[in-house]
Amino acid sequence: MMANGRGAVITGWGIALPETVVTNSDLEARLDTSDDWITERTGIKERRVGGTTAGLAIEAGAAALEKARRDGADIDQLVLATTTPDRQMPATASVVQAGLGTHGGAIDINAACSGFVYGLVHAHGLIAVGAERVLLIGAETLSRITDWSDRNTAILFADGAGAVVLEAVDGPGQLLGWDLGSDGSAAELLFAEIGGFMRMEGREVFRRAVRATVDSSLRSMERAGVSPDDIALVVPHQANVRIIEAAGQRLGIPIERTATVLQSTGNTSAASIPLALVDALNGGRVQDGDLVLLVGFGAGMTWASAVVRWRSHPAVGTSS
Ligand SMILES: CC(C)(COP(=O)(O)OP(=O)(O)OC[C@H]1O[C@@H](n2cnc3c(N)ncnc32)[C@H](O)[C@@H]1OP(=O)(O)O)[C@@H](O)C(=O)NCCC(=O)NCCS
Repeated sequence: MMANGRGAVITGWGIALPETVVTNSDLEARLDTSDDWITERTGIKERRVGGTTAGLAIEAGAAALEKARRDGADIDQLVLATTTPDRQMPATASVVQAGLGTHGGAIDINAACSGFVYGLVHAHGLIAVGAERVLLIGAETLSRITDWSDRNTAILFADGAGAVVLEAVDGPGQLLGWDLGSDGSAAELLFAEIGGFMRMEGREVFRRAVRATVDSSLRSMERAGVSPDDIALVVPHQANVRIIEAAGQRLGIPIERTATVLQSTGNTSAASIPLALVDALNGGRVQDGDLVLLVGFGAGMTWASAVVRWRSHPAVGTSS
């Protein structure tokens, strides 16, 4: 399943969050809900809202480029994972491409909350066929498709962006195993019509989310030839801390080896995994050689996971 010959490593990372904070107390004031209920059932305390998907993506992308000591012009492919493009067309990636001055292709991909890991695997594919440096961004403004009078969804979703720079290396690179999946027969469990708000069957999404997280993680680990004990850090989609705990329990990976930021970000869909990854990296929670498991699920239903061996100071560049 893994391609040989030409792999990739992550050389830079960055995030963007809008300034406006919406706390559970703010929601309490306008919905039939409570801080206690939201905290106990989801783990979320506050979230950020505002901005545009392109604006947040450009800010996160610029931060990732700076960390990688690269300019936009060093990038030859841009992949933007988003469920909330700013317009029907053009692709939001084109606006981000102009904003950052990247070269080559620019494309939006929509796999809902699995989008960043889908993008990670697709970026490795671009590198395998010749791209040198890919900027991968997950960015969302879910507040624009949230019905703020619906307590089922308004407590969960929010805005933000996270980005990584991937650079080509000789040899297999960081990606050891991956799994992407979709079950479109479950599409009605979580959807938004074009121009409409999100609608969700929370309990059933919860049940499937735990199962998808566990099954996909096991497939990626098997393909990577590693076991849960080998994983230094899981970076799961930040939807609900109870989903993360239930999946972690079944995988035998404790919460201490799990990255969580949902307390302060809510569910930011394609941005949630890079937000949690960057928080863990900046907190010194990932060391050279560590195995990191990224895993997400979302509307579709989709799911995606990847096992990455972290290299903190990679010898970047191919010999060819
Ligand atoms: C939405 C979610 C938090 C609801 O939690 P839950 O424990 O499943 O709660 P239930 O839907 O069973 O509802 C339990 C009770 O709380 C009530 N309730 C629902 N939302 C509420 C809210 N925001 N505030 C207060 N009470 C609420 C329900 O009406 C129900 O009341 P009842 O027992 O009198 O009928 C949970 O199902 C969830 O997180 N699902 C996954 C959603 C998700 O991750 N979506 C994104 C996928 S990428």
